[in-house]
Amino acid sequence: MVRDYKTAISHITGVTANECDLIANLSNISAILKELDGFFWVGFYLVKGDELVVGPFQGPVACSRIARGKGVCGISWEEKRAIVVENVHEFPGHIACSPESQSEIVIPIFDENENVAMVLDVDSRKLNEFDAGDQKALEEVGEIITKLI
Ligand code: SME
Repeated sequence: MVRDYKTAISHITGVTANECDLIANLSNISAILKELDGFFWVGFYLVKGDELVVGPFQGPVACSRIARGKGVCGISWEEKRAIVVENVHEFPGHIACSPESQSEIVIPIFDENENVAMVLDVDSRKLNEFDAGDQKALEEVGEIITKLI
């Protein structure tokens, strides 16, 4: 789907330019991304020890903790790769935080040593909502965040 990532990324760059607090920046980034068409839940899971813990997000209440290798987020972290899920009901081990989510994209975000520091998770209420274009744009957001960590 075509989304106005250009405007979102420009907004993210501006809002984070003079702010050094990571939680403040992730909060505003999730708010900016939530404005994009079809984003039902958008937020960050932060690596803390051997778990992911939910961080700033926009959308309904979500699972607080996800173990490494579990769910789409835990696999993205473990395998250090973006995952596009066309239909969450067909993804083995998918963790359903909301019964409304139908498709999902998860992007790992790296620190300067190339360790995964967090993942960015976006859910949609429609099937097959995300494609390679979304992956590329959200990875660009991830690269901006790497510089903010
Ligand atoms: N579906 C994710 C869990 C997080 S929620 O979607 C917000 C997963 O399988 O990792």
